[in-house]
Amino acid sequence: MSSEAILAKNLIGKKIVLGICGSIAAYKSALLTRLLIRSGAEVRVCMTKSATTFVSPLTFSTLSKNKVLTDLAANQEWNDHVEWGLWADLILIAPATANSLSKMANGITDNFLTAVYLSARCPVIIAPAMDLDMWKHPSTLRNLKQLREDGVHTINVEKGELASGLSGEGRLAEPINILVYLDNFFYHSKKLLGQKVLITAGPTQEKFDPVRYISNHSSGKMGIALAEAFAEQGAEVMLVHGPVNIELPDHPSILLFPIKTAEEMMNKCAELHPTSNIAVFSAAVSDYRLKSTSEKKIKKTGPEGISLELIQNPDIAARLGRNKTPEQIHIGFALETDDEEANAIDKLKKKNFDLIVLNSLNDKGAGFGVDTNKVSLITQNNVQKLELKSKVEIAKDIVSFAFQHFIVKKNN
Ligand code: C5P
Repeated sequence: MSSEAILAKNLIGKKIVLGICGSIAAYKSALLTRLLIRSGAEVRVCMTKSATTFVSPLTFSTLSKNKVLTDLAANQEWNDHVEWGLWADLILIAPATANSLSKMANGITDNFLTAVYLSARCPVIIAPAMDLDMWKHPSTLRNLKQLREDGVHTINVEKGELASGLSGEGRLAEPINILVYLDNFFYHSKKLLGQKVLITAGPTQEKFDPVRYISNHSSGKMGIALAEAFAEQGAEVMLVHGPVNIELPDHPSILLFPIKTAEEMMNKCAELHPTSNIAVFSAAVSDYRLKSTSEKKIKKTGPEGISLELIQNPDIAARLGRNKTPEQIHIGFALETDDEEANAIDKLKKKNFDLIVLNSLNDKGAGFGVDTNKVSLITQNNVQKLELKSKVEIAKDIVSFAFQHFIVKKNN
């Protein structure tokens, strides 16, 4: 089993709606569900009524650890097919029968499964299963052609013994083959394969004696979410992060470079920057550090206060902005309390950013420590205001924005 899990590493964290139609091959969907779950996917199963006569929904709710839906309404309650459609990263219909293919090709939504299909914005993959002659029937071929034109991907049926006793084409692809297809599908849908991304995250700590330092409230959540979102799209990420109290990503494409001070962050970034295609400056770098630090703990000597002399830290984004090549893309952050947009645009120019992500401390649910943020994405000639969202969602939006506005353009 563990070899399947390794085979399908591109399924980690993917949200999959598995639609099961009424074919004897529905029993194979139980193993398929297990393989998907073991590969780290989150699975919701919906079944046609006829599928439930072959295999019990209980089998799938147990395997997927989610409720299984069949009807558009049950117990006088509406089942929200729209929410399912929007939730999914992928809809997989396996087995897909001639009957359901025909409904899908014609926009008929008389059950939960076909209603989810019509509500979805994500890719749809079908793995048909039917008898030899049904598979070759002109109406099936017509429906499949229509579905392909509608953007639906098909996993080829396999040849062999069929439930009817005949032998030929029409068998549902073996679950392991479906898993490999999905793994490849997710791998090739990654938009940032081959891109190297440098990300700064978290606070820096500026020490003044062995037990004390100056720092700030940055949690590192935004930078870590960005690292995960870039890696998710196939990029290789170099995450230079200050001391954070949250779990660091454990992802094969994210290299971690822990630092403490702004100077250490500067040196590490200067070393990594020339190899990067994209640099994202999300760290809350301390603007100042102590002019001199004490090797011994500073003792309280008398009733008087003490003064600490601060000197400026390097501005990492500004310095690297001066070395930026025309091929490199720089993304920065601005946290402003007044004249927000004007200040952010000013920073965009001064630090040579291609995009600046503005968050305002005036917005509820935005800023340090919290899981949500309300930001605007600002370029030289465009301001896009996003609603309050989780930092994970914002990170995904920033990655999509960078892909559409910079990478696609540069490649054209
Ligand atoms: O000037 P300000 O600190 O508001 O600029 C914020 C942007 O500059 C952020 O992207 C931050 O990561 C970056 N920055 C930096 N080095 C500093 C200060 C800020 O990289 N010393």
